[in-house]
Amino acid sequence: MAGDEQHTTPAPADRRALTEPGGTYDGGRVSTEDLATADVTDGVLFEIDGLEVYFPIHQTFFKALVSTEKKYVKAVDGISFKVKQGEILALVGESGCGKTTIGRAVLRLEDATGGHILYKGLPVERFTQRTLREYRKKAQIIFQDPYNSINPKQTIYDIVAEPLEVNDLVSSEREKEERVVKAINEAGLRPAQEYLYRYPHELSGGQRQRVCIAGATVLDPDIIVADEPVASLDVSIRNDILKLMVDQKEKLGVTYIFITHDLSLAWVISDRIAVMYLGRIVEIGDTEEVVANPKHPYTKALISVIPVPDPLAKREHVILQGETPNPVDIPSGCRFHPRCPEAIEACKEIEPSDVHIGGNHYAACIRLTEAAATGDAAG
Ligand SMILES: Nc1ncnc2c1ncn2[C@@H]1O[C@H](COP(=O)(O)OP(=O)(O)O)[C@@H](O)[C@H]1O
Ligand code: SF4
Ligand SMILES: [Mg+2]
Repeated sequence: MAGDEQHTTPAPADRRALTEPGGTYDGGRVSTEDLATADVTDGVLFEIDGLEVYFPIHQTFFKALVSTEKKYVKAVDGISFKVKQGEILALVGESGCGKTTIGRAVLRLEDATGGHILYKGLPVERFTQRTLREYRKKAQIIFQDPYNSINPKQTIYDIVAEPLEVNDLVSSEREKEERVVKAINEAGLRPAQEYLYRYPHELSGGQRQRVCIAGATVLDPDIIVADEPVASLDVSIRNDILKLMVDQKEKLGVTYIFITHDLSLAWVISDRIAVMYLGRIVEIGDTEEVVANPKHPYTKALISVIPVPDPLAKREHVILQGETPNPVDIPSGCRFHPRCPEAIEACKEIEPSDVHIGGNHYAACIRLTEAAATGDAAG
């Protein structure tokens, strides 16, 4: 820990929770020196541990007077997972299940109300302002609509150069130009010289998203959170952008958290999938395994409606009844029970915990516990 930054000592239980995964953190605030010397342990770049992000609901003055209970939108409600260095991890689920909030919490654009996010073993919530500034060079985000996230009055060169300037990362014009040209080329806008002095409105939607990707990779980040990056693009160019991300993962070693409501996109691009429902992960595992062998009824329903190339292939489409429930009033027991085609009476009472299916594959459903007891979970 550096001596020049404010120190606070976490409670012993808290400290234990924080030290275990990374091994180097010794409590208190995390300084820029801690960040500079931290390293990946066992291939794990991030460990998300019991993360909660609750948003308070602002009640009317009268309601606040008569009600003793404070209400919250439980956007992320106790989530744990790891992000391995160099992988593409997809977060998949219906709109409103908490995907964006997780992405924002990872970048600490949103503060966690519970749990921890550990980057190379260091708790993000204890970063000082200076550490946070350094961290944000390493953790980037790109959004659904590239037009909204870039300044239409800047040239492509200025857009991609800006993060280098803001972070004081280049010592000469020449170095700046080299890095900008490299990032634009790597984002597939080739030759970069043809794009440098154009404006966003002169480019297609796909090309604009490539500019946003160049604006992220120019900083040489460890991770990019891509929040529905192809949702606003024409279907015909989606695959090109997805291919670019896979390419960058392989060539530049960038780790991606890929956020999508569309499981078929996650299937195409990701190494692992985490399926989310109402603030929780209900199933997680290697992509091929989860798609071929889904265990949670919600995942099964999402997979049943993915279009398949063979129109004669017989498949039963599971259409879920009802809307996603409200994260203010989460159903008792298994939160999916009001919509679950496989629910039994006990699902209203018992909150499922993770069942190990095999390898990296876990799913949270009490019926899998029954199946495990009879030796059937992996079948
Ligand atoms: N700043 C906020 N204040 C209050 N509620 C929020 C805020 N951000 C998100 N929410 C709510 O949290 C839930 C999860 O939102 P979000 O993470 O955006 O879901 P997703 O990205 O999966 O669509 C939604 O009910 C949303 O309305
Ligand atoms: S615990 Fe019950 S309601 Fe929840 S997914 Fe399993 S079967 Fe469905
Ligand atoms: Mg979202």
